[in-house]
Amino acid sequence: MKALILAGGSGVRFRPFTYWLPKQLMPVANRPVLEYAIGNVRDLGVAEVGVVVGEWEDAIRDALGDGARHGLRITYLRQERPLGLAHAVRLARPFLGGDDFVMYLGDNLLPDGVAAAAEEFRGRRPAAQLLLRRVPAPSEFGVAEVDPGGVVRGLVEKPARPRSDLAVIGVYFFTAAIHKATEAIEPSARGELEITDAIQWLIDRGAGVLAHEYHGFWQDVGRVEDLLAGNRRLLTGLRPAVAGRVDAASRLRGRVVVGRGARVVRSHIEGPVIIGPGTLVEDSRIGAATSVGRDCVVRAAELSDSVVLDGARVEAVRGLRESVIGQHATVRPVHDDQPGRRRFAGDRARTGSPFASQRSGGNHD
Ligand code: DAU
Repeated sequence: MKALILAGGSGVRFRPFTYWLPKQLMPVANRPVLEYAIGNVRDLGVAEVGVVVGEWEDAIRDALGDGARHGLRITYLRQERPLGLAHAVRLARPFLGGDDFVMYLGDNLLPDGVAAAAEEFRGRRPAAQLLLRRVPAPSEFGVAEVDPGGVVRGLVEKPARPRSDLAVIGVYFFTAAIHKATEAIEPSARGELEITDAIQWLIDRGAGVLAHEYHGFWQDVGRVEDLLAGNRRLLTGLRPAVAGRVDAASRLRGRVVVGRGARVVRSHIEGPVIIGPGTLVEDSRIGAATSVGRDCVVRAAELSDSVVLDGARVEAVRGLRESVIGQHATVRPVHDDQPGRRRFAGDRARTGSPFASQRSGGNHD
């Protein structure tokens, strides 16, 4: 079995962060979302991975390399424009050949893995197997209708009036039968070749499409709230390790990781918290469920339940929570600041400084 991981698209929903970083590279517990996808397909014994990339190709290549670090081989497949998930399968056809494959959307986070679903697919080899999950708001997703025997009867992409509460998770297992379908379908009203249409094409021709209801943690990391939820979940599995320096006036409680070259000075950290390499935490309090990237400065600040990206500075801000601070952003108090507020500071944004209005990105309370 091969894997096709989709990391193209423009990621408009994740602005202002995605001016400098695509959503698939947003860090969760200090590792890019995409790395978890790579880890999950490696756990299935997959050795050949195609990664579909768009305008962020260089950044994604830098992050993943040739795959050797993860014990597999990565082939990058350039998609010039995000013309749909089925379009990505079309362009990957020479890479996939006649092999079975798992298609994995690079913004989907499934820390519990997909081994049981893969085993079922390998055992039964339907033309397609979908991972489904009951959700309260199905119209944000592909929605499946499934008969009592677990056979998928119908599939619609983001329907206004969903006919079930079964959302399609971004991990699909296919045999080579899918290629005929992706060639046969036409673009949808939104101009994309929809994978849901390709799968429906298979269903209409009597091919077996099976449902696997997934009960593990699943998060499509498209928005700030999703990133924070994913971060909280991933940090629960943190193994404490202190490679940096923690001075005698500091206290670490619970599961805390302090990366190499990081320094914790006169500060309190209440895990689970991860502090990236080269970061300075001084005169601060960092509360549970916080990830701070590499080479950051957190000084005289108080924050919890947040994600701080590489190179950011958080200074003299109290009670920051459920916040995401972009790469190389600087967050300082603003004149009407109140404790306990949330911040979404975009990449390179500056808040509380005279440059606030001149920078792209900005912050949104
Ligand atoms: O997360 C699950 C949902 O993912 C499913 O329920 C939907 O049926 C499925 O269409 C998809 O919906 P999204 O709106 O979340 O898809 P998005 O445009 O965010 O793209 C998903 C991933 O695929 C993302 O990593 C970008 C990549 N992509 C997307 C398109 C449209 C590509 O690589 N190429 C593309 O042409």
